[in-house]
Amino acid sequence: MKVGIFETSEEASRVGAEQIISLLEKKPGATLGVATGSTPDGLYAYLRAAYKEGRFTLADSKAFALDEYVGIDPDHPEAYRNVLRRQLVGFTGLTEENLHTPNGQAADPDAAAAEYDQSIKDAGGVDLQILGIGADGHVGFNEPGISLASRTHRDALAPQTIRDNARFFDDNEAKVPRACLTQGIGTIMEARQLLLLAFGENKAEAVKQLVEGAISSRWPATILQAHPSVTVLVDEAAASKLELVDLYRARWDLD
Ligand code: GLP
Repeated sequence: MKVGIFETSEEASRVGAEQIISLLEKKPGATLGVATGSTPDGLYAYLRAAYKEGRFTLADSKAFALDEYVGIDPDHPEAYRNVLRRQLVGFTGLTEENLHTPNGQAADPDAAAAEYDQSIKDAGGVDLQILGIGADGHVGFNEPGISLASRTHRDALAPQTIRDNARFFDDNEAKVPRACLTQGIGTIMEARQLLLLAFGENKAEAVKQLVEGAISSRWPATILQAHPSVTVLVDEAAASKLELVDLYRARWDLD
């Protein structure tokens, strides 16, 4: 795991976006895993600007969302498919057909989950998965206690996540969907590269556990320690609980 610590989230987002652009230079048409939440906003904005400058295109790429709310009106602006449309479709060359999101409307969520895993396999797997992290250590919507080998599945949102996401639903917890379909931890771990971003003091404990904690489903993101290619990009507030900062900086500077 490589940990990059930056003064600002803008700087970290730029480094993350440049990693994606250089992957696309080496492998045009690379498949991306795309996260929602507010963390990747800066990274997506940087990608949109770089696309405008003609530096890359996702025209030949597929993008797979990490997750989707179950039961949300498909026209709701906070349905993750709509969030990702606004962030990426058109503005990065990504087409509507190449944006894949779990079907939160499916009558049979288990079948929809299995189909989603299969569609990732059929696409040849994810080359680079963008990730945020929940304050409780979730990735995607893999909440504490989930199997670290889980495949795409339906789950309940943790109370903490409902509180955290209320800001997208008029600050009203009652309006936050209670369930989701999410790529499983096992699914996420099959991506060839993982790029996780985390900003702000609210994420400091989750980042501490992610980087330095024992692997445990209490903090699902800790399993990322077992992946061979993970880059974690954080600002100083999110890094504030890390013990071995000097080592991470030295390792980062080696490249
Ligand atoms: C959300 C999403 C995750 C995201 C996380 C953090 O609920 N399901 O994919 O990484 O929680 O969100 P944010 O980036 O808004 O802090």
